[in-house]
Amino acid sequence: MSVHKNVKKITTHVLHKMKLRGEKIAMLTAYDYSMARIIDHAGIDVILVGDSASNVMAGHETTLPITLDEMIYHASSVVRAVDRALIVVDLPFGSYQGNSKLALSSAIRIMKETGAHAIKMEGGSEIRESVERILSAGIPVMGHLGLTPQAIHKFGTYVVRAKEEEEAKKLIEDAHLLQDTGCFAIVLEKIPAGLAGQVSSELDIPIIGIGAGCKVDGQVLVVHDMLGITQEFSPRFLRRYHNLFEEMTNSVQSYISDVRSRDFPNKEESY
Ligand code: KIV
Repeated sequence: MSVHKNVKKITTHVLHKMKLRGEKIAMLTAYDYSMARIIDHAGIDVILVGDSASNVMAGHETTLPITLDEMIYHASSVVRAVDRALIVVDLPFGSYQGNSKLALSSAIRIMKETGAHAIKMEGGSEIRESVERILSAGIPVMGHLGLTPQAIHKFGTYVVRAKEEEEAKKLIEDAHLLQDTGCFAIVLEKIPAGLAGQVSSELDIPIIGIGAGCKVDGQVLVVHDMLGITQEFSPRFLRRYHNLFEEMTNSVQSYISDVRSRDFPNKEESY
């Protein structure tokens, strides 16, 4: 019998057991109550209140502008909706880099003001002190390596990371460092599948991939992308399960036409 189907609440401990038993972990983003309600009801294991809210909710080009207060608003809405999934919240850009005391105070604000279960941070050795300080307060930390969107201006492009040996070596070292420091899981974004598989087999903690192939312990996608609400973003790793942009456009056009033709509301829809 699988571990995750029987549990009332997914914890970091459950995720660890899923890795041990070779059960894949399914993770999606959510930023609001209604979407979180649907994906928790559907049985998702982990909900990430990602700083991708900056793109899909606020329309920014990058994840850099979103603030800690805005992340707290999104995370609180998600927490109110969820019964079962583990809820992980991104520490936004500027709330932890280069200052471990600031990092701890940002993580504490997220945990205290939202009721979420864990935080996620981008980076390896350069954020070690912050990860240690946050873990020392009893806050579970998920790492994030590979393409780290908060560093997009350093990379200059969203192409696949760690294709060269030097960057791949650093990524493997950073993954071990994050595990040794005490992270409960790591997201690997947009790196070669072979490298991701190697990290997953070397590490005991779950490795969740996005554009990192199938040899990892779980997958994460941005929910607006996989439902086809967003249109502009079409990377090779994205599988679209729906074209909600088109379906919603059709529904809104039907409504407009019904209002204009006086078909809506009819007698049954009136008091
Ligand atoms: O913010 C986000 O949605 C993420 C995922 C892409 C992993 O970090």
